[in-house]
Amino acid sequence: MEDTEKIVEEAAAEAQSAQSSRALYEVKMKFLGRTGKLTALLKNMKEIAAELRPAFGKRVNAVRERLEELFAAREEHVKARELAEKLASEQVDVTMPAKRQRRGALHPITKTREELCDIFSGMGFEVFEGPEIESEYYNLTALNIPADHPARDMQDTFYITEKFLLRSQTSAGQIRLMEKKKPPIKMLSPGRVFRADDDATHAPMFHQMEGLVVDRGITLGDLQGMLDEFARTMFAETAKTRLRPSYFPFTEPSVEVDVSCTACGGKGCALCKGTGWIEVLGAGMVNRKVLENCGIDPDEYTGFAFGMGIDRIAMLKYGIRHIRSFTENDVRFLEQFRD
Ligand code: PHE
Repeated sequence: MEDTEKIVEEAAAEAQSAQSSRALYEVKMKFLGRTGKLTALLKNMKEIAAELRPAFGKRVNAVRERLEELFAAREEHVKARELAEKLASEQVDVTMPAKRQRRGALHPITKTREELCDIFSGMGFEVFEGPEIESEYYNLTALNIPADHPARDMQDTFYITEKFLLRSQTSAGQIRLMEKKKPPIKMLSPGRVFRADDDATHAPMFHQMEGLVVDRGITLGDLQGMLDEFARTMFAETAKTRLRPSYFPFTEPSVEVDVSCTACGGKGCALCKGTGWIEVLGAGMVNRKVLENCGIDPDEYTGFAFGMGIDRIAMLKYGIRHIRSFTENDVRFLEQFRD
């Protein structure tokens, strides 16, 4: 009987000093668990005189109940304090100044390429991407630029081996597509191109957007109509285009296409050097020989092709003066293209 009193006192003291629910649980097990002190007392039952056993049993049960109450009360207290501490430690001060997140932006070349793809896919063009490492055949020969032809010098090409090179024009994609697909064709081919060129408006790597349409009865008028539509969507509602005769071995006739100056609208300024026009692309009717090289009958089908510099279009659209700005990775420059 005395032992039970001692156990209650001990348990009360230990519960009081338990500061966490974990510690309190251990104290509880120490007294009420299967190997706990109270359980140990019951094991002594057989040493007690038979007539005293019922009273002893009752006593132990009463003590168990008291201990359970005692632990429950302490547990409530400890848990409440733990919760308060947790809430305090996780408190958010909504009046603190926020950490600024720096947001990225699409590269102006990417933006321009996507915009061009949007405009032309709206007219029914499908995107086709050719490889950056090309064979001489696709980049030059099949485009009617035979070996030793002076036109090979028009574009200073980076050769990798005698037969392979970094493509100097996305026109190579025309051949790849026409070998696989027969008319009607409406292809758009964006990509990087490489030339041994380097000044304020020329970089050794830049981007082109090639277009190719082949079907029955396609004329130069179709080309200009489509380019007018492109210029109005890309630059300004009032933008106009002008064709000037030019020369490309893979088109006949060939034209250079100008748009009315994006800065002055055609009146003449520093950007257009007083002419009111800015050259934006090369184009023309697909040369019969090119169609033949791809197994398309030039008496049945005609087509036009165009190739524009994406970098140049982006420079005009955003008023960028140096082509180098695109590859310098200056965050101050790039940040301006956030939507
Ligand atoms: N490939 C030519 C260039 O890079 C542009 C072009 C494409 C011209 C298609 C005519 C037709 O200059």
